Amino acid sequence: MDKYIEKAERTHNLTEAELIFLLQNQSCEEELAAAADRVRAKYVGNGVHLRGLIEFSNICRQDCLYCGLRRDNKKIERYRLQENEILELARKAVGYGYKTVVLQSGEDSHFSVEVMTRLLHKIKLLGLAITLSIGERSFAEYKAFKAAGADRYLLRIETTNKNLYTQMDPGMSFENRKTCLWNLRKLGYEVGTGCLIGLPGQTIQSLAQDILFFKELDTDMVGIGPLIPNGDTPLATAAKGDFGLTRRMVALIRLLLPEANIPATTAMETLEPNARIIILQSGANVVMPNVTEGDYRRKYALYPGKICVADTPAQCRCCMSGKINSIGRYVAKTKGFRRHLPAAYSQAAKC
Ligand code: 5AD
Ligand code: FES
Repeated sequence: MDKYIEKAERTHNLTEAELIFLLQNQSCEEELAAAADRVRAKYVGNGVHLRGLIEFSNICRQDCLYCGLRRDNKKIERYRLQENEILELARKAVGYGYKTVVLQSGEDSHFSVEVMTRLLHKIKLLGLAITLSIGERSFAEYKAFKAAGADRYLLRIETTNKNLYTQMDPGMSFENRKTCLWNLRKLGYEVGTGCLIGLPGQTIQSLAQDILFFKELDTDMVGIGPLIPNGDTPLATAAKGDFGLTRRMVALIRLLLPEANIPATTAMETLEPNARIIILQSGANVVMPNVTEGDYRRKYALYPGKICVADTPAQCRCCMSGKINSIGRYVAKTKGFRRHLPAAYSQAAKC
């Protein structure tokens, strides 16, 4: 076995140079994925957690160059679900057997602390774990959401390269994004972050540094995905992110953060038809099927070619559990919080 893969599996640590070597090395990919799959089985088991995704508004005050929801995109049809519609989708998520809902939107200021906390209280009564993914807010707002029942928060750093971040996310502050993540951590959320793969000008070194950042933050969830160029954005003519590189990233993230929850994301399946299954066998243990209904699924257009837009949430549920069972895994019945394994366990893994 490659000595760096063996080291990663045994110690869950690699240097930046070792990460770069493995990210660049296509010939090690199968071996790397197999090691990540073993670590996944050992630390988080064979259960796959399904998180029901509710895309409740595509209105966004930010202007990220890659994203179809960016405020300067005049071509997208904007929508915002009513509170009762969101609650109804959460009820349906319970009906599909999901234990978690992910409430995701653009940065839409309509969803004030008052609106969000009212909604969170109602959803909490359904017995669901709640993940929020609504962008940058103040410490006080994050605190209020937590008190109202939010358990987890997803906020991708997108890239840890400050120059690239500033170029790709004009008007946003890299420092503030990091502050948001540390604030979420301080408030006791399960924190999820991640990056895009294939941003123009992004280097392999920068991706290696992204992984080291996830480790430094000791992030509970890591969601990454390839860039899918959107024709209605300034990155219309950029190249797509590479699937193999995305897979190697997932595998390395599992090896370095063995307890993390790692989703096989839908953007991956836009590149490669069987991507979510391949990624579930390369270190991932979470899938986020869409619970959003009808035309809203299509309108939440971060990138083109989004899968399942014509399917109903019930079809997605059925399709995913079939796929998961076909690879000898099962749909987990628990809420799937991050497991913190006793130090002795991780110590044993280090010997
Ligand atoms: N391709 C792939 N992922 C994208 N996102 C936004 N635009 C794109 C795109 N064109 C991702 C960002 C954001 C998440 C919600 O969607 O990483 O954090
Ligand atoms: Fe920033 Fe959509 S506008 S990710």
